[in-house]
Amino acid sequence: MSGSSGTPGSGIGGNTVKLLIIALALVLATPALPASAHPRPPRDLRQLAQQTGVKIGSAVDIAALRAESDYRRVLNREFSHVTAENAMKWESVEPERGVFTWADADALVENARRNHQQVRGHTLVWHNQLPAWLTNGVADGSIDATELRKILRDHITTQVRRYKGKIRAWDVVNEVVEDDGTMRQTLWLTHLGPGYIADAFRWAHQADPHAKLYINDYNLEWNAPKIETTFALVKDLRAQGVPIHGAGFQGHLGIQYDYPGDWANVMRRFAGLGLEIAVTELDVRMVLPVTPEKLTTQATYYSRALSDCLSVRACRELTVWGYTDRHSWVPGWFDGEGSACLLDENLAPKPAYQALLTVKRPR
Ligand code: XIL
Repeated sequence: MSGSSGTPGSGIGGNTVKLLIIALALVLATPALPASAHPRPPRDLRQLAQQTGVKIGSAVDIAALRAESDYRRVLNREFSHVTAENAMKWESVEPERGVFTWADADALVENARRNHQQVRGHTLVWHNQLPAWLTNGVADGSIDATELRKILRDHITTQVRRYKGKIRAWDVVNEVVEDDGTMRQTLWLTHLGPGYIADAFRWAHQADPHAKLYINDYNLEWNAPKIETTFALVKDLRAQGVPIHGAGFQGHLGIQYDYPGDWANVMRRFAGLGLEIAVTELDVRMVLPVTPEKLTTQATYYSRALSDCLSVRACRELTVWGYTDRHSWVPGWFDGEGSACLLDENLAPKPAYQALLTVKRPR
């Protein structure tokens, strides 16, 4: 029992109570530190995402997710956002007409839920990885334009509805503009006409009104003809009231090319149309063999991409197209190139990973 003026039984003096109240008031009156002024460097990419306010994601190889516990552990530790690398593409979800195979996509969404990861849906309308029944049917005329339009509508509605409320953002249309700035002559454009793009966004919006709906493309980081056509397309869609909410920059870079130095400005232009921005498929490949110098250069490309995103308020997500060189599409698609990811084949962090952890939001 302490001082004579104390409340009986409390053990705390009246002055002490006053001091405590003053101290509490001071604590409450002190503004919280902004996230960017966080004093401690982040421990991993999840913390980096928390501190910078940008969601950091990875594409997921579903076979590896199932079979490799170390792959699964690192994915779930580091990333708070995920994209299916292939599991949500049309050939994966409807390999035969009317036969839906959702197991892989479901497994990804369920793993994300359990590990507090948000999900990017990839992708609803594309010219690649379509099932043979569809491309053959269009080619031999057994699927006419009217039927094709209905098939597309059903596909979008079925898939978006299935994951309603579970997908933060959908890549609704993927790679619809060519590098020369013309509209890509896909089976969609040639059979349905240019209106298929607005239709796709409207159908997706009807199926899940809360999902952010994106247009997504590569080389949009730097290629002027593609940028101008895509910009005009989005502006036109917005003017018509089409529910398009985001522009995705795939970001497949290579250190043998200059870093796209104007990228942040391009992001800002699209943000000026009222869009959210995301880097959706970042990787930075190199001509093999790997050298320490190349890895150092690669690290600057990764950190510049994050800095660019952080310099644009509307940029909300940066997703890498696979996080480990053990499972990367690069060696299979670019002859003689590889080592494009943040972690090596053994899941050891490369200089690029360390570099990302030091990036801060500019004041
Ligand atoms: C790639 C996958 O990584 C590969 O596994 C698959 O064989 C082909 O597609 N742009 C995209 C992605 O939008 O869907 C592509 O993914 C890479 C380029």
